[in-house]
Amino acid sequence: MSRLVVVSNRVGIPDGSARAGGLEVSIRPALKKRGGIWFGWSGKVAEDRTGAAKTVEHDKVSYITIDLLKDDYEEFYNGFANRVLWPILHYRLDLAEFTRRDLGGYFRVNQYFVENLERVLRPDDVIWVHDYHLMPLAQMLRERGHKNRIGFFLHIPCPPPEILTGLPNHERLIPALCHYDLVGFQTENDANNFSRYLAIEVGLKRAGDDAFHYEDRIVQTGIFPVGVETEAFARLARRAVNSQFVRHVMTSMADRALIIGVDRLDYSKGIPERFNAFERFLTEFSDWRGLVTYLQITPRSRSDIREYADIARQVGELVGRINGTFGEASWTPLRYVNKAHSRTALAGLYRFARVGLVTPLRDGMNLVAKEYIAAQNPEDPGVLVLSRFAGAARECGAALLVNPYDSEGVAIAINRALGMPLEERRMRHEANFAVLVKNDLTHWAERFLGLLEGPMAAEAEVRPAVRRVGGAG
Ligand code: UDP
Ligand code: G6P
Repeated sequence: MSRLVVVSNRVGIPDGSARAGGLEVSIRPALKKRGGIWFGWSGKVAEDRTGAAKTVEHDKVSYITIDLLKDDYEEFYNGFANRVLWPILHYRLDLAEFTRRDLGGYFRVNQYFVENLERVLRPDDVIWVHDYHLMPLAQMLRERGHKNRIGFFLHIPCPPPEILTGLPNHERLIPALCHYDLVGFQTENDANNFSRYLAIEVGLKRAGDDAFHYEDRIVQTGIFPVGVETEAFARLARRAVNSQFVRHVMTSMADRALIIGVDRLDYSKGIPERFNAFERFLTEFSDWRGLVTYLQITPRSRSDIREYADIARQVGELVGRINGTFGEASWTPLRYVNKAHSRTALAGLYRFARVGLVTPLRDGMNLVAKEYIAAQNPEDPGVLVLSRFAGAARECGAALLVNPYDSEGVAIAINRALGMPLEERRMRHEANFAVLVKNDLTHWAERFLGLLEGPMAAEAEVRPAVRRVGGAG
């Protein structure tokens, strides 16, 4: 088996810290099982480029990280990746702030990744690149003569061509993905949007249902909804619910029902809209006042970016308004916490919570939704209220699906979830859980790598072939 080299901006160095972010969570187990290299940014900003890449060896995996310079951090990470690509790929053209300087920084840092990566690359390594920070990486590697199998997985949504074309320089960035052998998406919708872009904007001819001819190569696309370690997470939750931390939270709840939300503090997560819905719920279904507590765990994220600072302020104000309006000396309706929690702590809280509230305005997948389902007690499960605009809604159709923009609809769903009879809760949970056991994280990684390394992809290099990649199942 070839050596696996995973490349992503964020690297899950095993340092025991609690960090929020689905990419790290999904790569770590896949790599741990097979071993290999995980290459990316250290998360640190250095004064100059004199420092060499650092390697940490742990459990068959070499974590190799490089630092960014201040300008790189500003132009690449805060700039083009998170002020242009992130909003536009989340359908928020209105929030994008483009500058040519940031675009230059984006390409410069990708080049810097390539220069450092090729020091450790072997010709038969399989390279798996993750997410929007590193879209041009394969093209840059190809230009330097690397012929490795290279796959790309987009963890976030891919909007329709009508929105993608609003991305300045899209004609340079999006077709660059065709230098990968395999480009994977979370849902059928994302994959179709990409295919439509290639057909309409680049004029590529199909080489089968899910593949395109591009210059002298074939690019294969596929749908690989990222999963969680369903059964292991269920076991973790069973143990964690008895931990001192969770017991402490339970005691503080004084028999009230817990509603839980867990999100990075990001505008794509729909937190203000969700708070408005909770306010509406307390207004319309006033019998619940004093009987429920909504705990929102929201670690700060990308705080140097203005839009993120704005959302933090807006959310803080809403918390004050809701607790000021409805709170009593003996009851705080909404507990808002900005600290990141360990996955063990979250697993225990999910299991204890009667309602999981996951209402992003747009999300590639949303692993919190899947973790919430995995953590439930099948005999007495809680209910997931899930945005129809999260990738997870495709597989978790037995959740209460809501439109996150419709605060009245979400308020009604919260009420319904809290009052749902046991039999219906069990039925819904069983259906969702069965899908998540089938489509777990191992399945996701094995399907992607199986296709990237498999004979069909090999064949395509020498002989364009008609191939079809299976759907989400
Ligand atoms: N997470 C965590 N601690 C926290 C908050 C979140 O470990 O305090 C984890 C959470 O369990 C999940 C991931 O971060 O696995 C978030 O992934 P998701 O796909 O929901 O959203 P993203 O942050 O990637 O947009
Ligand atoms: C999402 C993105 C990841 C990113 C994570 C945390 O999951 O898809 O690429 O790593 O958010 O964001 P951060 O900017 O802290 O890496």
